[in-house]
Amino acid sequence: MTETTIAGAMLYDGTGSEGFLADVTIRAGRIAAITPASDPPATGSIDARGLALAPGFIDAHTHDDLVVITRPLMTAKVTQGVTTVVVGNCGISAGAGCATGDTLPDPMVLLGAPEAFRYATFAAYAAAVDATGPATNVAALVGHTALRARHLDRLDRDASVAERSAMRADLAEALAAGAFGFSTGLAYANAIQASTDEVMAVAAALRGTSGVYCTHLRSEGSGISAAIDEAVAIARHATAPLVVSHLKCAGAPQHGRSGAILEQLEVAAATHPVGCDCYPYTASSSTLDLGQVVPETPIMITWSDAEPAQVGRMLSEIAADWGVAPLDAAKRLQPAGAVYHCMAEADVDRILAHRLTMIGSDGLPCDPRPHPRLWGSFPRVIAHYVRKRGLLSLPAAIRKMTGLAADRFGLVDRGYVRAGMAADLVLFDPARIADRARYDDPEQPAAGVLGVWVNGVATLDRAGMTGARAGQMLRRPESQNVFQRRGSMNE
Ligand code: ZN
Ligand code: CU
Repeated sequence: MTETTIAGAMLYDGTGSEGFLADVTIRAGRIAAITPASDPPATGSIDARGLALAPGFIDAHTHDDLVVITRPLMTAKVTQGVTTVVVGNCGISAGAGCATGDTLPDPMVLLGAPEAFRYATFAAYAAAVDATGPATNVAALVGHTALRARHLDRLDRDASVAERSAMRADLAEALAAGAFGFSTGLAYANAIQASTDEVMAVAAALRGTSGVYCTHLRSEGSGISAAIDEAVAIARHATAPLVVSHLKCAGAPQHGRSGAILEQLEVAAATHPVGCDCYPYTASSSTLDLGQVVPETPIMITWSDAEPAQVGRMLSEIAADWGVAPLDAAKRLQPAGAVYHCMAEADVDRILAHRLTMIGSDGLPCDPRPHPRLWGSFPRVIAHYVRKRGLLSLPAAIRKMTGLAADRFGLVDRGYVRAGMAADLVLFDPARIADRARYDDPEQPAAGVLGVWVNGVATLDRAGMTGARAGQMLRRPESQNVFQRRGSMNE
């Protein structure tokens, strides 16, 4: 039986407590033993003295639904130390109720080309992930906009009673097949006409399961507070834990509101399981939204079907070249994607450091010129927020990237380094780990990540990616009572 011992690293176990020097032994895909470090390390073990060892990072917010199948090496994630990705966010997913035909409702194009959406059921998608075997584990949510695309003839309206039940039935089927929850993207044009009642009717499938409700709020701008109230009401209706996706205060008029917004979440969290995710950058990214084309927000074009030559340029420069207003230039670029420099650093700091916040990259893996969060989020939290700014301690940062996310999504045997748990681990140099992806050079792997194990298999070592693909499609454990299991989470 093959056994690996990682010897002498400072072990951060995912709970947020201080590190301690330990030898960690992996056997048959699990953590077999954690013992005080022997000095010098036993022969045959991996000498990890001077390095940090942590649970593999859990990317709490991704759009990797299809790339786990089409590009299963997952280089952008493994090189950061990520061992599990949560897919199906923002109302879009490939795992159930996907659109067919050759046009995808916005923003489903973020996930891949129309022909890649070929899974009629969640079980078929899960089987395809199993058959592929990506390098990271996958936990999947079911997207509301994807369900709408399947059951509604047009998306600029509220769903009928019959359509709501059809969507709820699809969600229930997916939950039974292992989906971890339900997501919405209510700010997007193809979901904004869905009433709160519609979302509640579909989300009701979460009742009696451990599934979570994740939401890209109906507004991240001036309507954010009302949007949080709506999200909490939906989660309560569904008796499901709430995850507010990529919490931010977007647009200059919203800057400085993060304190009040977090307080609003705190109040809800006192009586309901509530959390959020956040990426460590002051720019957002998605499809090009005309509503966000305002003079205060510098915008970079990440892709454009109509004008591919403009990719990587600022919208204001393109507009000046063309001699038109930025809004007209944006119309001419469509369909397109963009990076929006729309947040204030103080708000990002406050949200990122908050105890309810997990780290989610929200990386867009199909963009030709992606936001650097795709390749840099996790190392950046440590390099920028722990080491450079001192905003977080290292154990607290690691907890946000591991145990907290595992608890929130119900990944019962991951997120911690404990005997018996799955051997998802990352070994890094705490003095050197850093993001190298930049807005003008975004596809750069991180520095200082020296070892990644997924289900006990070495997926990255000092020489780089090993090519191993030991990730699993994770399936939600059945019949757990969320309030019993998660009730103490917000302490
Ligand atoms: Zn989103
Ligand atoms: Cu997203």
